[in-house]
Amino acid sequence: MNRKLVYYPEPILRQKAHPVRDFTDDLPVLAQEMRRIMKENAGMGLAAPQIGDSRRIIVVEYVPHDPKETAIPFTVLINPEITPTTKKTDVMQEGCLSIPYVEVEIERPTEVLLTAQDLQGNPIQMKAKGLFARILQHEVDHLNGTLILDYETEAHPADKPKTIVWGSTEFTTAIMNTIRHDVNITHILTEPAKPKGRNQVLTPTVAKQYADTLGIPTIEPDDLTDPRLYTYLLSLKPDLMIVAAYGRLIPEKLFTLPQFGTLNVHPSLLPKYRGATPIQAAILNGDSETGVTIMQLAAKFDTGDIVAKVPYKLDGTETYKDLEFELATLGAEMLAAILPKYLRNEIMSMEQDDEEATGTKKITREACWLNLEEPAKINERKVRAYSPDPGAFVILDGEPLKVLQAHIEQGQLVFDQVQKAGKKPMSWKEFLNGYRKPLHFEPYEGILSR
Ligand code: CO
Repeated sequence: MNRKLVYYPEPILRQKAHPVRDFTDDLPVLAQEMRRIMKENAGMGLAAPQIGDSRRIIVVEYVPHDPKETAIPFTVLINPEITPTTKKTDVMQEGCLSIPYVEVEIERPTEVLLTAQDLQGNPIQMKAKGLFARILQHEVDHLNGTLILDYETEAHPADKPKTIVWGSTEFTTAIMNTIRHDVNITHILTEPAKPKGRNQVLTPTVAKQYADTLGIPTIEPDDLTDPRLYTYLLSLKPDLMIVAAYGRLIPEKLFTLPQFGTLNVHPSLLPKYRGATPIQAAILNGDSETGVTIMQLAAKFDTGDIVAKVPYKLDGTETYKDLEFELATLGAEMLAAILPKYLRNEIMSMEQDDEEATGTKKITREACWLNLEEPAKINERKVRAYSPDPGAFVILDGEPLKVLQAHIEQGQLVFDQVQKAGKKPMSWKEFLNGYRKPLHFEPYEGILSR
């Protein structure tokens, strides 16, 4: 036997399990298998339907870390029945191995009378209280097809669509901030924390930090194809999902899950500039306008049907950071404006013309290097397109020097603000004061030779 834990929404978890009449030899084997799976998943109880067997069998075992807590020895209970023996109840957070990540506050009686049979069919009768009573009630619920989700109380106003926002950057937070009164943002789904800076400190995304301040729970999956993620999102019953600067391809199974589908806010006038760096591309190409498109998410990157599209004029001085903020603000206003109609199904979406489509590239280290042999115009745009992150740079003394601000004077690129690795930004004048050698800018290979 090599059984596995089954996850919500597997139908077996909703079925009423059958009473055991024959105490056959396979029961002890099944019980040991249940114990193994329960322990592997650090559970305190397990019901047979959770490993795909629809019989009325549960196992319980609790080994506390704290010796002051009461241990519950491994117990197999066949055909268990419980009756509360007190009117007293308490409330506790409960999780369930079949519904990962979900915790629900559940009020239950604190004492129950248990009747059941052991593996040989001998009757068992005992009183249970505290944690033991709670585990028994949870597991017997499983035998009746009841899950912790059924205890969830509606904590949010029902007229606002339950929404999950996907994203990681300031673009995401700007959007959340504007729409959070129009929809009920129940969760943020974001990239996992990454090591950052000199000391490689694990740093959560900007979106997570913002969500924390609002008390909105975050989900940080490594793997979008993990079936547990699907199970979890399904259990949240979102009405709508909004993707804003998430950056990874989202499996169709996930984005088709909400009844109103998934909307994506993309900072360009689609089908122009599909892909990961549309804001940078508009600056690099010296465009006189860009904009924001809201589309329905599709299986291929940025190809979904367009729900709304609004242009934004560029004056040629925008940095990446400024423009990201402006387009996020615009996108958020657009979302707030269209959502009521969208949720009433009153918006006709429009297909994109694939023939008109252009893509954008990932930013490489080499792309950020300022080749001073090239026209000043090109380099000035690079400075703005990559400011402040990842930053355009030149190479001096074999070390990269970030150029955060520059302008063009008589056809020449003039630096205004620079930053050495691990130092604070400083003016170019300040930098020159401390640099008493002739300036010799090296080619890109200079950085590779070190
Ligand atoms: Co459970």
